[in-house]
Amino acid sequence: MQINPYLFILPRTPGQIVWDYKNHKQFELNLEYSTRLAQLINNPKLYDDSNRVDTQLLNSGILTHSIQDTIEWGWDELSKIFHIGTKNIPCEHVPQNIHEWSKHYLDHCTEVLAAPAPGTRLTELIALPKPSCLPQGSLANVLIGRKTCRTFTDAAVSLEDLGTLLYLSLGYLHERENDVDDCLVEGLDARRSSPSGGGLNACEGFLHVQNVSGLEPGFYAYHPVDHALSFVNPALDSPLGQLLCGQHFINNLPVGLFITSRFDKLWWKYEHSRAYRMAFVEAGHISQTFQLVATALGLNTWLTGALADDQVEALLGLEDSAEQPLFFVGCGKSDGQVMCEELKALLSSQELAQ
Ligand SMILES: Cc1cc2nc3c(=O)[nH]c(=O)nc-3n(C[C@H](O)[C@H](O)[C@H](O)COP(=O)(O)O)c2cc1C
Repeated sequence: MQINPYLFILPRTPGQIVWDYKNHKQFELNLEYSTRLAQLINNPKLYDDSNRVDTQLLNSGILTHSIQDTIEWGWDELSKIFHIGTKNIPCEHVPQNIHEWSKHYLDHCTEVLAAPAPGTRLTELIALPKPSCLPQGSLANVLIGRKTCRTFTDAAVSLEDLGTLLYLSLGYLHERENDVDDCLVEGLDARRSSPSGGGLNACEGFLHVQNVSGLEPGFYAYHPVDHALSFVNPALDSPLGQLLCGQHFINNLPVGLFITSRFDKLWWKYEHSRAYRMAFVEAGHISQTFQLVATALGLNTWLTGALADDQVEALLGLEDSAEQPLFFVGCGKSDGQVMCEELKALLSSQELAQ
């Protein structure tokens, strides 16, 4: 007999909460069950088939017959619990098409809006000068022009635009090769357009290609040193929205980037779980840069952190890997709509009915 390796235990008088964070299950144990569990943790061989408590602990998954593979983790348990505990969130029903998603989203908004939004902080304000030097410059125009769109046309993205996008958001910039300080460690001198925690460039990118001229649909890895792609997996059989927690309005998004993080690079330099936060901050920088470059190229953008993690990992060839997908950002030609037609139609039919 084994103890499930994905448990954490919280004292909550008078009981103990046992949380199976991988399978998203919680149990409240009274003194009898807690005491027995403590005995079994001390010596799993004490497991007794005729003991009612033991069989219940087994049936609940707190005990297990098989030694489950524990993933490699280089930080302390804090970030491991958080990372695994927030993956593959069980969803009662993943919307299977755009109509189901629209209904689901509208119901969710109605529920959320039933409670007032958190208020703004009241404080004495010191007025600032008007931003008179803005917004004529091209950077300002791009910043103002970036917006999240949720309808994409069926126009292809050109390979030239894709190359520019990848080079300027993830590529190691040749232009900075001569701008290397002597005190930089060899191997940590590659520079991107976004800053990187510890100069490690822990973030990587995998493309999901649906409609790029000159590139077969499928999944590709981007190689920042060579500014090149390598094929990883063929195109999906199912709509893209299925992989992104039912958000079917982006099913025809021409191209998207899964931003991953090489945790092993971060483990190497930073031992504490706090470095886990930095992985997401870095992914956010890359995502924003991608969106700004796309906007400058006349494309519209969309982004999400709602990934079907296990499926995405399998498609990117990252199962049980120290490299984990964190975020997705995509782009293409759009009519600039913030919401899809199906949601708008549902909204107006509900308004009419009121
Ligand atoms: C961390 C993060 C996660 C997001 N996730 C989603 C998402 O799952 N689906 C979606 O349609 N938009 C998502 N968005 C986009 C936001 O809804 C959008 O940025 C926000 O409404 C403001 O609009 P704007 O980007 O046009 O300024 C996300 C944005 C961020 C920064």
